Amino acid sequence: MHLALPPAQLLSLADKHGLPLFVYDGGTITRQIESLRSALDVPALEIHYACKALNTIGIVKHIHNHGCGIDTVSPGEIVIALQAGVPASEISFTPSGVLTEEYAFAISKGVHVHVDQFHVLDWLDIHYPGLEITLRFNPAIQAGGHSKLQVGSDGSKFGIMSHQVDAIKEKTRSLSLRITGVHMHLGSDIGDSGSFDQAYEYLLTIARQWADTIQRIDLGGGFKIPYHPQDHSIDMPAFGHKISQRFRRFCEEIGRPLTMVVEPGKYLVSAAGYLLMEVSAIRDGGSIPMAFVSSGFNHFLRPMNYGAYHHLINLSNPEGDVHHYDIVGYLCETDNFASNRPIHEIRRGDILCLMNAGAYGYTMASNYNTRPRPAEVLIADDGRTQLIRRAESFADIMQTDLGYVADGLSSPVDPKAG
Ligand SMILES: Cc1ncc(COP(=O)(O)O)c(C=O)c1O
Repeated sequence: MHLALPPAQLLSLADKHGLPLFVYDGGTITRQIESLRSALDVPALEIHYACKALNTIGIVKHIHNHGCGIDTVSPGEIVIALQAGVPASEISFTPSGVLTEEYAFAISKGVHVHVDQFHVLDWLDIHYPGLEITLRFNPAIQAGGHSKLQVGSDGSKFGIMSHQVDAIKEKTRSLSLRITGVHMHLGSDIGDSGSFDQAYEYLLTIARQWADTIQRIDLGGGFKIPYHPQDHSIDMPAFGHKISQRFRRFCEEIGRPLTMVVEPGKYLVSAAGYLLMEVSAIRDGGSIPMAFVSSGFNHFLRPMNYGAYHHLINLSNPEGDVHHYDIVGYLCETDNFASNRPIHEIRRGDILCLMNAGAYGYTMASNYNTRPRPAEVLIADDGRTQLIRRAESFADIMQTDLGYVADGLSSPVDPKAG
């Protein structure tokens, strides 16, 4: 597990922008896009980056500049993609259980929508007759790095279930909507291509049902990257070769070239991200020393939410003796980044770097304990550094709090007070 950026550069960015700080290496993102594209040899390929992983406009722009479309899950993400300069024709909308107003918003912007609910089909047919849509199916296969990430398994809330397929076929026959795509998303952190093969076969079987109108087959995302030094990544060249071959055979069977769509999130951005945090205190005396950092699960949720391993490096003392530490955050709640972790001696004031912080880091951050979220810096392909999001202030957080009005006395909150 190595840093793609020199430690001195990270330390100087910390000095310039303050801590905590997210830093993203654009070069790593670019290499991941290229590795995916070169592995997939099909008549037509669209990579739709699942921007829920990290949707700062600067990042979305970088990824779009490298030829990717964007997959979105909310009106907010659609607006971000449009503001990043992505044409509506390169944006897809894959929500889950949302109000029809959200579909109306997406369609008003010209964005292609993915549907997995019967009532939405009826509603679309009335309001947008003839609309081209993609249907999302649930392959009922359990795969993914954590139970919360196994979204394509039987009983999950996502996608049309296998027992609904006949009914959906029947329904779409009676509607004016054109089914131009089929979609699945199996889950996240999937390294074993066997589950993909199975799910993929299932999706192709489904695609045959709409063989006369189908234009694209969307395999979703979920491609595994290593988190632990001993961990492995999906074997992208082997995986890509296999699914491409199968896809080309399917195009031959259908008798025309189709577009393969993939929706990677973490595969593109996870390893590109670093979260820099200052050590605020060391507590000795227990069985394992504890290092407190000036951040917490308000900024990076994955260790607490998924029990995820994230590698940590002491940037300030890379040659120090290695000891074991519990690394904990500053929230007033159990807030662990790592337990019993071997790391170069940690001293108060040191700067720790949490790796693989690009995906589901900032986008899952909150203001819990009324703490502002950090700034974000992107290092472009040419090495230029750009602040792509300033740090939040207390005033930003308080903007929506209108204060309390009682007995005719208004006491608006003045964020600048105190
Ligand atoms: C519909 C859909 N596509 C793609 C992704 C991206 O997954 P990953 O970041 O694991 O590649 C997700 C993640 O939840 C998703 O829900």
